[in-house]
Amino acid sequence: MSDQGTQPSDTDPTAPDPQAQQEQASSGRQTSVYNLDAHTRRYAQRTAGMTASEIRALFSVASRPEVVSLAGGMPNLAALPLDSLGEEIARLVSTDGQAALQYGSAQGVPQLREQICEIMSLEGIDAHPDDVMVTVGSQMAMDLVTRVFVDPGDVVLAEGPSFVGALGSFAAYQADIVHVAMDSDGLQPEALRQTIDEVTRQGKRIKFLYTIPNFHNPAGVTLATERRAEVLDICARHGIMVLEDNPYGLLGFDGQTYPALRASDPDNVVYLGSFSKVFASGLRVGWVLAPHAVREKLVLAAESATLCPPTLNQMIVSRYLSTHDWQGQIKVFQEQYRERRDAMLGALEQHMPAGCDWTHPEGGFYVWFTAPEGVDAKAMLPRAVTQRVAYASGTGFYSGEFGNRQMRLSFCYPTPERIHEGVRRLANTITEELDLVHTFGSADRRPMTGPQAPSPDTA
Ligand SMILES: Cc1ncc(COP(=O)(O)O)c(C=O)c1O
Repeated sequence: MSDQGTQPSDTDPTAPDPQAQQEQASSGRQTSVYNLDAHTRRYAQRTAGMTASEIRALFSVASRPEVVSLAGGMPNLAALPLDSLGEEIARLVSTDGQAALQYGSAQGVPQLREQICEIMSLEGIDAHPDDVMVTVGSQMAMDLVTRVFVDPGDVVLAEGPSFVGALGSFAAYQADIVHVAMDSDGLQPEALRQTIDEVTRQGKRIKFLYTIPNFHNPAGVTLATERRAEVLDICARHGIMVLEDNPYGLLGFDGQTYPALRASDPDNVVYLGSFSKVFASGLRVGWVLAPHAVREKLVLAAESATLCPPTLNQMIVSRYLSTHDWQGQIKVFQEQYRERRDAMLGALEQHMPAGCDWTHPEGGFYVWFTAPEGVDAKAMLPRAVTQRVAYASGTGFYSGEFGNRQMRLSFCYPTPERIHEGVRRLANTITEELDLVHTFGSADRRPMTGPQAPSPDTA
């Protein structure tokens, strides 16, 4: 955009910054003297939606060893057979390095796409490898799907709360994110109907519903089986595509799985999967399964971003699936995460003051916690870190002013003992916060605006 009618020195992005010039003169440094604002003024409008997530901002403090972090969603990789994996990777490079270290197809390694279809069949999906595209984590798939479908101002429906990385992708493409309420059985079909009616009345266009049906991040709840057909039916009748994100589906603590939405409606569901939570997040291998025409467009979009996903990483995953007992490994993960979930629920029960509430996940990584009236979880976070415990405050999981009293507590990474200690410290922090609130009045003054119930706990 041009800056008409103002002084060039105020608006010209390439104009030298007088203060920087002065500093340079006094320091003798020969660095660029352009005003830092010059760069920000050149940014495209869409960058307004690109802001650091509260969770990322937290990472540096939360990762100090003395702090028990209940904040991140990092899988527990200590459970992996690292020695045999290392040998396998070395063998892969020495025997197949010419392929593994070379460019590959934009759609992904064919053998891996076949294996992905076998994995998806565990949740009832009957898919052809041609309709699968490998991505750099499912995060990239979210970016691509949004890039292909969303124009600025289009509405994306998402559960409230929702995965922070997805909200980031939607915001980056200037989507209007509208939350739909959940309860302990996941997304509420009636709330979905009402939200669609309301948004339609406002003359807005809904592009898709983004949903995490299994072991939700951050809510820890699962969409009841009997609701699944209803959600699909509502979306199909209103011409709304469903974006099903399912990185935790195989991490049910009793080995239980649920029928994927994609299994019942292949034409209207785009499905995202990932190896991050069931194998290795650092390899950044995920996938998207989409109706054929959509898949073709997604491949074109992916080509312009990465040319192709990393061949070596895909071949590592493929080898792992064909040479290791990966289903046995998933059972190990299930047991470990179940033990950690139990440690967290037990500690919450033992230590939390009256008035707190939390979800009881049957799989995945997260408990969604609601503090008593008056507590502002975001404002309290620095005080919690001083007490050497960190969490992800609820506000980061919403677009808009929701989630003040909520927090996400992750039990995936710390040991059961550390989880217990972390919850004890958090309970102390909340108790002290409540004392302050009772003495000085509510710290939580922000209004809970908007049409939807803000969380599974209050819905
Ligand atoms: C619901 C959900 N979707 C997607 C992702 C991103 O996964 P990936 O590592 O495959 O990009 C995560 C990671 O935490 C997640 O919780």
